[in-house]
Amino acid sequence: MLKDRFKYDMAVLTARAFAETVPELFQKDPQMPIFRAEDIYERIEKPKNPEMGNFALPLFEFARLIKGNPNELNQRLTDFQNRMALADPDLAHLTFSAAGGFNNCRIKTAALAEAVLREVLQKKNDYGASDMGMGKNIVIDYSSPNIAKPFGVAHLRTTAIGHSLYRIFKKLGYNCIGINHLGDWGTQFGKLIVAYRLWGSEEELRGDPIGKLLELYVRYHKEEESDSSLADAARAAFKALEDGHPEETELWEKFRDYSITAFEKTYRRLGIKFDHYSGESFYNDKIEPALSRLEKAGLLEMSQGALTVNLDKYHLPPCLLRRSDGATLYATRDVAAVLYRWETFHFEKALYVVASAQRDHFQQVFKVIELLDEAEKHLPEEKVALHLVHVDFGWIKFQDDIMSTRKGNIVFLEDVLDRAAELAREKIVEKNPELPDIDKISRMIGHGAVIFGDLASRRQKDINFVWSEVLNFEGGTGPYLQYTHARLSSLIRKYNRDIGPDVDFKLLDNPEESRVLDMLYHFPQIVYDSAREYEPFIICSYLLELGSAFNRVYQRKDADGRSVKIISDDSALSSARMALVASVRTVINEGLHLLGIESPEEM
Ligand code: ARG
Repeated sequence: MLKDRFKYDMAVLTARAFAETVPELFQKDPQMPIFRAEDIYERIEKPKNPEMGNFALPLFEFARLIKGNPNELNQRLTDFQNRMALADPDLAHLTFSAAGGFNNCRIKTAALAEAVLREVLQKKNDYGASDMGMGKNIVIDYSSPNIAKPFGVAHLRTTAIGHSLYRIFKKLGYNCIGINHLGDWGTQFGKLIVAYRLWGSEEELRGDPIGKLLELYVRYHKEEESDSSLADAARAAFKALEDGHPEETELWEKFRDYSITAFEKTYRRLGIKFDHYSGESFYNDKIEPALSRLEKAGLLEMSQGALTVNLDKYHLPPCLLRRSDGATLYATRDVAAVLYRWETFHFEKALYVVASAQRDHFQQVFKVIELLDEAEKHLPEEKVALHLVHVDFGWIKFQDDIMSTRKGNIVFLEDVLDRAAELAREKIVEKNPELPDIDKISRMIGHGAVIFGDLASRRQKDINFVWSEVLNFEGGTGPYLQYTHARLSSLIRKYNRDIGPDVDFKLLDNPEESRVLDMLYHFPQIVYDSAREYEPFIICSYLLELGSAFNRVYQRKDADGRSVKIISDDSALSSARMALVASVRTVINEGLHLLGIESPEEM
């Protein structure tokens, strides 16, 4: 639970107002929710329309409790609330108003400014951090590309969402464990071994592992159509690999090592590090013990030589764990992985950031674990299934003719990032040809455009990726926020004096500034909400709103029709405004960081 001081003040004052307005009820039962600040606190919302104030308490439920009319109750309450606030210096920063059944509360701008700006200027990028996670473990399974298949743009979403969730949970005091569950096992490795022996070479592989492996894979499938002996050879090679034969193992290791090296190049560009590269092969020796646990629990069924868990009762297809030829499957390795991770990390949550297309798979795996929990009679807190979350997401469609023709119809993530940097560079050169370090900044902006473009919609929605949209510097994009950050940074350089926190907060008194302050004030709540819903999107839309709220502050005209200057001859006013500038900059910087995006000082 997040403690919000002003919200708490409102709750306390409202509880007292209730006690005054219906004393008979208070006498009878002081534990009623209307008299308890904690209960009221839980029900306070943000008003839909920010003009209504900072907080809104819906009174309908309370009115029912005391059998009253919400409007009338509201009038009585606000009367009391305002009188009490006036009389108590500790609460004098609150004003109340009644709007139908909503009891609205506004924090006076100077008080809000003082509280928020002091905190942001003092904590800097730690603003919004908390220790609510108490160091508990969150396992995040994300990115997880398949070796020998392209690290294509299809894996962008899991990579971007997973990385962002990692940073968000870390900020909330959790210990995050990032796992790359590489697709590094399965029958396709038999095919690759055969193809490599026939058509591959070490040299070529070293030069371009991902491209080469893909080429071999594609060629294998083409030739297999006319040569059925290849399939037998591939089966035999995979069997040899499973049995641990040294030659096949060595080849497999080579494919794996080269691929990881290539993946890491992409990850480095995006500032991503994994705590573990434990792919599917990691579970090879953990499968038998897992199966025997399921066996002991009476969950396994043998049908035509295959082992399954019947899930008919739950309207799910049976979970196939071992084929009749003895081969284990993707699901088998995921079941073993859950058990291993639970034993190793005792996680608060295990997040699987994987496309919605795998919904059935995860429902099956989670159900198998749930049945095991029940059969083994675990205590409630030891029920593993309760801690598993499939963080699913929709498709990304990528329309780019130039890129798709380069390499058939597969769009590689690496190429997307290159192309993004290229396009960003063109725009930056147009705007600011003198900019030093233009390559570095172009990459920053290009990556920012791609990542933000991915995260800026609710994750379950499908995305249509269009360059001109994600690279628009004017609004709605990562580059727009990066540009805002660069502008604020340059203002701070120009001001070139220490900023706050001892400024005259009363000078920030217009509605536009008050709106920005309110938004800054809510940043910790935004971080919390994005973690609770596993939605980096919440941070994206918050930042866009903050950016435009801030732009409105200085687009407004003063009394004689001139636009407002941030830095002027009035030094008290300048320093108050710069405190706001610096705070907005910090929050944009930190917000982008939580999304996995870097902020340029100049652009
Ligand atoms: N390698 C899989 C794919 O690309 C994703 C793996 C996700 N993680 C998991 N534990 N199943 O589709």
